Amino acid sequence: MQITVNGKAHEVDVEGDMPLLWVLRDELGVKGVKYGCGVAACGACTVHIDGVAVRSCQVAAEDVDGEVTTIEGLGQPDALHAVQAAWVAQQVAQCGYCQSGQIMQAASLLAENAAPSDDEIDEAMSGNLCRCGTYPRIRAAVKAAAKTLQEG
Ligand code: FES
Ligand code: FES
Repeated sequence: MQITVNGKAHEVDVEGDMPLLWVLRDELGVKGVKYGCGVAACGACTVHIDGVAVRSCQVAAEDVDGEVTTIEGLGQPDALHAVQAAWVAQQVAQCGYCQSGQIMQAASLLAENAAPSDDEIDEAMSGNLCRCGTYPRIRAAVKAAAKTLQEG
């Protein structure tokens, strides 16, 4: 089947029920997306399909019906996405394992809600777990990125 990831079309020879997460990591070598739980309980595997955050461990390859974007394709080749830049500025990451999923979730949130409240941020990010407890910095970074995007 054909799958487009980060703007590039690929032919992959996989079973239709293979999770997108495995297609990305094992077939295409896209390793920014992480395996955490495999049961939609952690958010480490979050990517976008047509800009909407999805858990790639729960999407079968045959059900991918749009363009996939991973952390590697979120920004421009020569510039970080505002969410990535805010993450750097706020020094969000600790061990880093959950962070690509956190960033993809946050970018999807800001694409649909330019100025989320604290409650809206907490709700949108609630499915993305961080065992290092970086939640206060995540919220600060989401707010900083929202401000950057609003200022154009
Ligand atoms: S690995 Fe997909 S939600 Fe945890
Ligand atoms: S930074 Fe370590 S799990 Fe989130």
